[in-house]
Amino acid sequence: MLVTGAGGLVGRAVAEYCTVAGEQVTALDHHQLDITDASSVSATINNARPDVVINCAAWTDVDGCESDPMHAEQANARGPELLALSCRAVDALLITISTDYIFDGAKAGFYTQRDQPNPLSVYGSSKLEGERRAQREWARTIVVRSGYIFGTRGTNFLSTVMTRARRGESLKVIKDMFGTPTYACDLAQRLLRLAQLDLPGTYHVVNSGEGVSFEGFARAAMDLAGISESRLQSVSLAELKRPAPRPLNSRLRCLLSEAIALDPLPNWRDALADFASRESAVRDAVTV
Ligand SMILES: NC(=O)c1ccc[n+]([C@@H]2O[C@H](COP(=O)([O-])OP(=O)(O)OC[C@H]3O[C@@H](n4cnc5c(N)ncnc54)[C@H](OP(=O)(O)O)[C@@H]3O)[C@@H](O)[C@H]2O)c1
Repeated sequence: MLVTGAGGLVGRAVAEYCTVAGEQVTALDHHQLDITDASSVSATINNARPDVVINCAAWTDVDGCESDPMHAEQANARGPELLALSCRAVDALLITISTDYIFDGAKAGFYTQRDQPNPLSVYGSSKLEGERRAQREWARTIVVRSGYIFGTRGTNFLSTVMTRARRGESLKVIKDMFGTPTYACDLAQRLLRLAQLDLPGTYHVVNSGEGVSFEGFARAAMDLAGISESRLQSVSLAELKRPAPRPLNSRLRCLLSEAIALDPLPNWRDALADFASRESAVRDAVTV
C-alpha cells in the first residue's frame, strides 16, 4: 500500500493504522512525492507497484485556495488525475479523499450520494474536479468524502482550539456551521476496509451521531478535557468575513455503506472522548 500526503493529519493516521494492522505501507510526505509532478508520480508508482494507493495529499488551506486557484487545481484536481493514470498503468486500486465542501449547504438534512454537488469555494470546486478526473481516468477509483476531521496528529480545528484554550487565550467559534465530525483513526480504519472490499464508488465516511456546529463540537471537547469554556466566543460565519465561502450545513450520510451493510463508525461523542484521553496523554508525556 502506498500513502501520499503522509505528513498530514489523515495521511499520518492512515499510515499508522494500516502499519499496525499488518499492511506493508510506503508512506510518502509532500517532500518525498509531489502528486502534481507527473514524472515523479509515474516513476514512484511504477517502482513500488502497490496494490492500493490512498491519496491523502491535498492543498487544504480553504482561504488560500480562494486566492490561488491555479495551485488549488494542481494539488486537488491534477494530482488525483495523475495518481489515477499511474494506478491504471499498474492495476492498483486508488482511494482518494474528498470533502463535504463540494456541497453548497442549502439542504436541511444530511447530504447523501443522491445530492448534487455545488461547491461554493475554489477549494470545493478543485476537490470535486479531483473526484471527477480520478474516476474518469481509472475505473478502480474509490472517492471518500469526509468532513470536520480531527485527530491527535497534525494541526486541525480541535487541536488548535484546545491548545489556545489551555493557554488562556480567548477564541472565536462558529455557531452556525453544522457538520458531521470524523475521527482520523476511525476514517483510517474505514479506508482499509474499503481497500479490502475493492468496490469502486463514492462513499461518505464520517462518525455517526447527530450533526453539530463547530461551537457545539468545541464545547463538547473542552468539557471532556476539563477546560473552562468561558473563553469561547460564539460568532457567525458571516461575522468572521473569511475570504472563502463555506457551506453552513455539510452533514454527510452514506447510502452506499448502508446498502452493503458496513457497520456505522462510532458516535462522534465516543470518538471525541478517545481523542481527549489520548491528547491529554500526549500532553502529559510532553510536559513531564
Ligand atoms: N481536515 C478536514 O477537516 C478535512 C475535511 C474534509 C476533507 N478533508 C480531506 O482529507 C484529506 C487529508 O486532509 P488533511 O486534513 O490530512 O490535511 P493536511 O493535514 O493539510 O494534509 C494534507 C497533506 O498534503 C500535503 N500536500 C499538499 N500538496 C501536496 C502535493 N502537491 N503533493 C503531495 N503532498 C501534498 C501537505 O503537505 P504540506 O503541508 O507540506 O504542503 C499535507 O501534509 C484531503 O483530501 C482533504 O481535502 C479534510
